[in-house]
Amino acid sequence: MIDRNTVQQIIDTADVVDVVSDFVTLRRRGANWVGLCPFHNDRTPSFYVSRNKQIYKCFSCGEAGSAVGFVMKHEQMSFPDALKYLAAKYHIEVKERELTDEERTEQTERESMLIVNEWACRWMEEQLWETQAGQEIGLSYFRERGFTDATIRKFRLGYCPEDRSALYKAATAQGYNRELLFKLGLCKDDQHGGGYDFYRGRVMFPIFNVAGKVIAFGGRTLKKDDHAKYFNSPDSIIYDKSSSTMYGLFQAKREIAKQGKCFIVEGYADVISMHQAGFENVIASSGTALTDGHIHLLHRFTENVTEMFDGDAAGIRAAMKGIDKLLSHGLNIKVLLLPDGDDPDSYSRKHSSSEIQQYIDQNESDFIQFKTRILLEGVANDPIKQSQAIGEVVRSIAVIPSEITRSVYAKECSRQFGVSEQMLLREIKKQINANREEAFKQRERDQRRREAQEAASEPHDHPEPEPNIDATSQPTQQPAVIVPLQSPTYREERIVARLIAKFGMCYLCDTEYEDGVSPTTVVEHIYNEMSMDDTIHFTDPTFAQIFDIALQELEPFYKDLARVEQEVAIRTNEECEKELRTIDPVGKSIDIIESEEKRIRSKYSLKITEQINDFRQLYLERRLCSHPDDRVREMSSRLVTERHQLSKIHTQYTHVLSDFDRLTTLVPEALNTWRLNTIQNKIDTIKSQMKHAATYQEVKDLMQEQQRLQTEKIRLAKLVGERVLTP
Ligand code: CTP
Ligand code: MN
Repeated sequence: MIDRNTVQQIIDTADVVDVVSDFVTLRRRGANWVGLCPFHNDRTPSFYVSRNKQIYKCFSCGEAGSAVGFVMKHEQMSFPDALKYLAAKYHIEVKERELTDEERTEQTERESMLIVNEWACRWMEEQLWETQAGQEIGLSYFRERGFTDATIRKFRLGYCPEDRSALYKAATAQGYNRELLFKLGLCKDDQHGGGYDFYRGRVMFPIFNVAGKVIAFGGRTLKKDDHAKYFNSPDSIIYDKSSSTMYGLFQAKREIAKQGKCFIVEGYADVISMHQAGFENVIASSGTALTDGHIHLLHRFTENVTEMFDGDAAGIRAAMKGIDKLLSHGLNIKVLLLPDGDDPDSYSRKHSSSEIQQYIDQNESDFIQFKTRILLEGVANDPIKQSQAIGEVVRSIAVIPSEITRSVYAKECSRQFGVSEQMLLREIKKQINANREEAFKQRERDQRRREAQEAASEPHDHPEPEPNIDATSQPTQQPAVIVPLQSPTYREERIVARLIAKFGMCYLCDTEYEDGVSPTTVVEHIYNEMSMDDTIHFTDPTFAQIFDIALQELEPFYKDLARVEQEVAIRTNEECEKELRTIDPVGKSIDIIESEEKRIRSKYSLKITEQINDFRQLYLERRLCSHPDDRVREMSSRLVTERHQLSKIHTQYTHVLSDFDRLTTLVPEALNTWRLNTIQNKIDTIKSQMKHAATYQEVKDLMQEQQRLQTEKIRLAKLVGERVLTP
C-alpha cells in the first residue's frame, strides 16, 4: 500500500507529455503535442497530449487519460505498479502505508493463496513432464490433441496424478496449510484430519489473472464416461468466476492491444489451439456465460470483439446470447461462425494460418448480418417469420447505448430487410422505452426484495451463479429479456457527472446557509440540491462513485486552496510591484500615471483569478483521472476530454461562451432536466400500472399520484424552458 501523500506527489509530479514521450514520438502543435496513437493502428497523428490539462486523448479511437492511466494502459500495469514506475522515473521515494489489521489479514491470506496456487501449478507441471504417469497419460494426451511442447509450457498445462491424495500429501509436507488447500478447491476435507485431491487423474489448465498470477484451475477428465468433463476452482477471495479474468487474457492482452480487437471462443482448448496457430488475441469466458464483469474487464483492452463459435445450433445459440450483452456495453461486435462440425480448436488444427485468416476475412459479419442470416434462413416467403426476425434485430439495436451507433445499424438493417429506416427507428425507440419500463420495474422489484430482506434482517443473498455450460444442460428456450444496463436517466446523470468531474471545485454561486452566506462550488451546489429533494440520485454506480469522491475531496481541496491562494497572491503581487516600478513618470500627468497603474493592477488581479480558476478546475479532474478504481478513472477521462456538442448554427453565428463561463446556467439546467426525466419515467410507469390495476381504490391512488407528478413536471419544464404538452 503506497502512502496517500506519496500517491498525490507522484500524480502531481508526473508530467503527461514527458511520460508519453518515452513511448510515443510527439511533435508540438499549438498548445498541444501530437503523435501516432499507440492504442490503435493510427495512420495520421490523432493522439493529442495536453500539458496544461495533463491529459492525453486520441481523437480517432477515443482513448483518453492521465499520465498514470497511460502507463497502466500502455504497459498493462496495475495501479500501484504504474505509480511505482512513475516514482522511479521522477526519483520520488515511495513510502508504504501501514496496513490496518483487517487489510493485513486479508492481504496475507490472499498472498498465501496465490503462493499455494503457484506451487500447485508448478507441481502439476512437474508431474506432467517428469513422472512416468504424467508423460504416459497427460503429456501424451496433450500431444495427441496437437499441442506442441512450447504451447504446453506457455499455458503451463499440468497433470494431477490418480492417487487419492498425492497433491495433498506433497503440499502438507511442504508445510502448506490444509485450510488453504480446501479454500482453493485443490483438495477436499476427508473429515478424518486428512484430505484428498479434487482433480485427481485430470489434465490441468491453470487460469491466470491479468497480471499472470495463477488464481484458479480447470481440470479436464480423460475418461469418456465422466459426468463432468471439467472441474473448476470455486470462487474465493482471489477468484471471482464472473469477473476476475477470462481464460487466456494474460497471454493475449498485448496482442489484443496491438490488433485493437479480440476473439472470444468457448473453451480452453479453443484458446490454446488458436494461439498455437498464431492468433494470439483469443480468449474464452470458460464455462460461464459472458458476464458484465467479463465485459468490463475486456473493455479495458479493446472495444472490438468478434465471437467465434461452432456453426452448429449450440454455437449459434451461444453467439446470440453474447451479442446483446456486448452491445449493451457499447462494444462493437462481430460474429464468425465456423463450418458446421468444427470448433475453433479443430478448425485451427486442420488449416494453415493463412487459410484461417482468409476464412476470417471472408466470413466475419457484423451482428445485423449475422442475426438476419440466421433468422431469415428458410423463411424468405413467410411474412410473419420475417417480421419476427425484424423484431429480434430491433431488440438488439435498442440495447446499444450510443444513438449514433444505433442509427448506423438501423440503416444497415433497413437495407438488409428492405424496410423503411424511419419505421425501424420508431420501433427501436418503442423498444427502448419498453426496456426502460422493464428496468424500472426490475429496480422496484429489487428494492422491494431488499426491503423485505432487511425487514427479515437476513444476510444479503448472493447473485445466482451462472450455470455451467456442459453437455447435459438444456438450452434455454426463451431468450432472456435483456434489461439495459444503463439506468433510464443515464444521459442526464452523465451530464451532471461531467460537470462534477470537469468543474466540481469551481466557484458557482453564493449560498445562504444558517450561519451566513458562503461561496459554493459546483459539487457543493449539486449536493445541496440533491439533498433538498429526493427525486434525483445517481443510479449509475460509477457516477455515484465520482460524486462521492468529489465530496470527499472537498476538505483537502479547501486546505490546498487556501495555501495556493496565498502563494499566487504573493508571487503575482511581487510581479505587479516590479512592473509598477517600470512606469516612467517623466513628463506624465498624475492622471496618466494613475490610469497606467490601474491598468497594470487590474491585469495582475485578472492573472490571479485565472490561476486560481485553473487550480480549481484541475484539482478534481487530475485526481479522478488518476484514480485507482478502473471504472472511475476511465469514465472520468472520457468525461473531461469530451467536448459538449454545440449545434452547427450555434457555433457559426453566435459568440460561443465556454462551458466554464456558462456554469451558472448549465448546472441548474442539467439538474432540472434530470428531475424532469425522472418524473416523466415515473409517470410512464404509473400509466402502465394503471392498465393492470385491480381495484377502483388502486386506480384512484395512481391517478392522484399522476396528478401530482404532472404538476411538478409542468413546473420543471418551465424551468428547463421546454414546451410541455399535457396529454
Ligand atoms: N466447461 C466447464 N465444465 C464442463 C464443460 C465445459 O467448465 N462440464 C467449460 C470449459 O471452460 C470448457 C468450455 O466450457 O473449456 C467449453 O466446453 P467444451 O467445448 O466442451 O470444452 P473444450 O475446452 O473444447 O474441451 P475439449 O475440446 O477438450 O472437449
Ligand atoms: Mn473442444
